[in-house]
Amino acid sequence: MEKPPTCAHQKSRIAQIRWGTPVSSSLGQQPHSTLLIGSIPQFFGGSQFMQDNETEAASKLKDTCSVLKSEWTQRSSSARARFYIASHPGWQDSKKWTEQARIDASFVLLGLNEAQCTDMNVLEIGCGNGRLVPFIASRVKTYTGIDICRNFVDECKNRLGETRTIRFVENNGSDLPESICDRHYGLVFAAAVFIHCPFNVIASYLVSIRQVAKRPTVLRFQVLTDPKDLSDIIPVESLDPEAYERSKNCHDVVVKEQDAAQEHDLVEESSYQGHLFRMDELRSFLADLFGDSAIVNLIRFDPLIANCEVLL
Ligand SMILES: C[S@@+](CC[C@H](N)C(=O)[O-])C[C@H]1O[C@@H](n2cnc3c(N)ncnc32)[C@H](O)[C@@H]1O
Repeated sequence: MEKPPTCAHQKSRIAQIRWGTPVSSSLGQQPHSTLLIGSIPQFFGGSQFMQDNETEAASKLKDTCSVLKSEWTQRSSSARARFYIASHPGWQDSKKWTEQARIDASFVLLGLNEAQCTDMNVLEIGCGNGRLVPFIASRVKTYTGIDICRNFVDECKNRLGETRTIRFVENNGSDLPESICDRHYGLVFAAAVFIHCPFNVIASYLVSIRQVAKRPTVLRFQVLTDPKDLSDIIPVESLDPEAYERSKNCHDVVVKEQDAAQEHDLVEESSYQGHLFRMDELRSFLADLFGDSAIVNLIRFDPLIANCEVLL
């Protein structure tokens, strides 16, 4: 399997990667044309992905996902499973855990008003152990969570239960399973998931989403960005004051050394770290993929992470 690129700075911060910076919202804006549908390779000109033939690319993708599945199964079985879900200060404290989940869920829904939410089917890719579900499912029409890791999906089912409006599905780690393509999702999000995925997995998901999405769909996710490329970083203070207040909690996460040491045992030699995008690469990747009809907002407060919002 291809190793994602690494750099010293990136490695030293591995344990600090987490979801938590607010995503901008331009939900007042309406996209004007319909989605384009095409085959995967046409969007990745010049990349290794493009040069492989389709069968080889599909086989590589399958191998990659099988590695990811086994690694996430291992993490989910470790005593620190929760740490891998959300590695914020106080992750072991259930009160702090719940409070952080509430804050993170509010970022996911940032800018969506109550009426929009109650009318919306929501899809979460990489739902983990359902940390965000209590704060999202109650506010939307239906919630569907998918995850590559069966243990996490089982935990969601056991702890949160499935109802007429909430369901959890294990998936293959690269696209949307057919069983969940039975409705229009107004919001599709992946919180702290693509930061752990190699390029071909991210590309495959986005193509899959684009193929099933109908207008209007809001897509929100984060990717890792190359910390040597400092373009487009904006101060977090430039957010509106309310969002800034909520985000303060989420920045400069310092994971204690003893946590980090154990974390590294499980993530060293693994695929924990996702593809590092340069900002220009990210921009053209999303433009090629979604075309002119989509609005793409990239918000970067941190050299390591870009919050991406695509309005289809
Ligand atoms: C850092 S956790 C975040 C969980 C959840 N989104 C949250 O914020 O609480 C990453 C989750 O993504 C899942 N995951 C990782 N790679 C995945 C993939 N390729 N497809 C689906 N799920 C994936 C993991 O199993 C894990 O549950």
